[in-house]
Amino acid sequence: MRWVMILTYFAVTMVTLVLMSIYILGVLRENLQNNESAQLFAKANMISDTIAPYFENPASFDGDMQTRQILAGTSIRGVAVNQSCTVIYDSNEQSSLTGKVLMRDIINTAMSGEQAQSITKSEEGKTVMAVAVPIMSSGKALGAVYLNETVDNIDNTVSYVQMNMLLFSAMISILVGMLSLGISYVITSPIDDFIKVAKEISKGNYKMRLEVHGHNELSEMAEAMNLMSDELENIDETHKKFISDVSHELKTPLATIKLICDSIVDTKEPDIEMIREFLSDLSNEVDRLTRIVERLLTLTKIGSQEETAALMPVDFNVMLNAVISRLAPNAEAKHIMLYGDFDAQTIAPILIDYDKMWEAVYNITDNAIKYTPENGSVRMELHSDGNEIAVAVADSGPGIPEEERDRIFERFYRLDDSRARETGGTGLGLAIAKEAVLLHGGRITVTTSEMGGSLFTIYIPCRRAEGADIVH
Ligand SMILES: Nc1ncnc2c1ncn2[C@@H]1O[C@H](COP(=O)(O)OP(=O)(O)O)[C@@H](O)[C@H]1O
Ligand SMILES: [Mg+2]
Repeated sequence: MRWVMILTYFAVTMVTLVLMSIYILGVLRENLQNNESAQLFAKANMISDTIAPYFENPASFDGDMQTRQILAGTSIRGVAVNQSCTVIYDSNEQSSLTGKVLMRDIINTAMSGEQAQSITKSEEGKTVMAVAVPIMSSGKALGAVYLNETVDNIDNTVSYVQMNMLLFSAMISILVGMLSLGISYVITSPIDDFIKVAKEISKGNYKMRLEVHGHNELSEMAEAMNLMSDELENIDETHKKFISDVSHELKTPLATIKLICDSIVDTKEPDIEMIREFLSDLSNEVDRLTRIVERLLTLTKIGSQEETAALMPVDFNVMLNAVISRLAPNAEAKHIMLYGDFDAQTIAPILIDYDKMWEAVYNITDNAIKYTPENGSVRMELHSDGNEIAVAVADSGPGIPEEERDRIFERFYRLDDSRARETGGTGLGLAIAKEAVLLHGGRITVTTSEMGGSLFTIYIPCRRAEGADIVH
């Protein structure tokens, strides 16, 4: 990652610099050449104007002085040719071309009345710039002035600039290299931390957290990762607590079973009546264990994940009546008056998971009967405001102290442990009810009822499906 970044930065910078250099050098060369050729043309035209009068009679050419003056101080070679390209005058005396025929394309162009220029390489590899302009007299080209000059200075300037740009590019590259190294470090070092923490978490070390600096994508990522760690730690702790709660709950009946068994073994001459009594106790404890395990299974099956809900339209009136008739024998056994106070109401069926909702309503009604003393009463009500359905179960029992009202929904929590155990309670009923209600997006509350006991209310949001079958 780090090297990819550095190389990318480097490549981008290099390509930019190279393209920029090529462009700048091209522009520079063109500019210098344009300048040079403009000068050459100016001089050629001056010479052409000066010597034109002599061309009326080329034999008596005497433009040497003026030409020399014009070319003074330069390394330009000046040549004048007549119409048949024979050299009349050459400013270079050492290798004078006077009298010879000089054939050049640009001289031919000049003869037709137009000026022309060319850039060529000499045999020694030097760049030579040449221009040719016509010598005009009464609208006719009588000959041409041909100037040429080695333009080494342009080449020199260009290569000097090129050299400097190379140096400059090298410096920029080093700078970019260092900068990208720094940037890549800034970007990748938090990622290294991420990897480290993620590895720790995968090993089960949920306590690891990332430091969050500033406010950018990386810090948001770190926050998200920390949230994930929080959640994992939470789940981990919940699991551990669940297992320890379960083990603790199972230990008590197992200890009782062990005690009963030992008692039977230790009794020297047990009579059959006594053994029967022990065995009946044993059976009760086994029932208790079975109940705990069954309820635990129910609890894990419910889970508050909506995907597991099998929704169907249910008429609550019908469901509540079914719960009442199921629990009627329990109530009768304690001479408790159990009744529903919702006959007059008709509430349209709503979408729920029937089995799970049954479990919730059954558990709170069962509790109301269980914890209400003999000759008391339990009343069930059903209300709806169109958005929510409320199922209320009120009893005339002992009620629940305010400070305990949150805790009773925890797993295995019982107000009076020994009494609740006698009544066969597992402490899981309300936990199951709460899970089932949460699964439906609802809530469950507990307050004091008008009868002086407790009032449990389940609220479920109304979800309706048109035209679906009603399940009773
Ligand atoms: N209607 C009620 N009146 C008084 N106490 C209740 C009532 N419902 C529940 N409780 C208390 O809340 C505790 C938890 O209830 P629950 O989760 O159903 O467990 P249990 O298996 O003991 O019934 C009970 O042990 C009991 O102490
Ligand atoms: Mg219960």
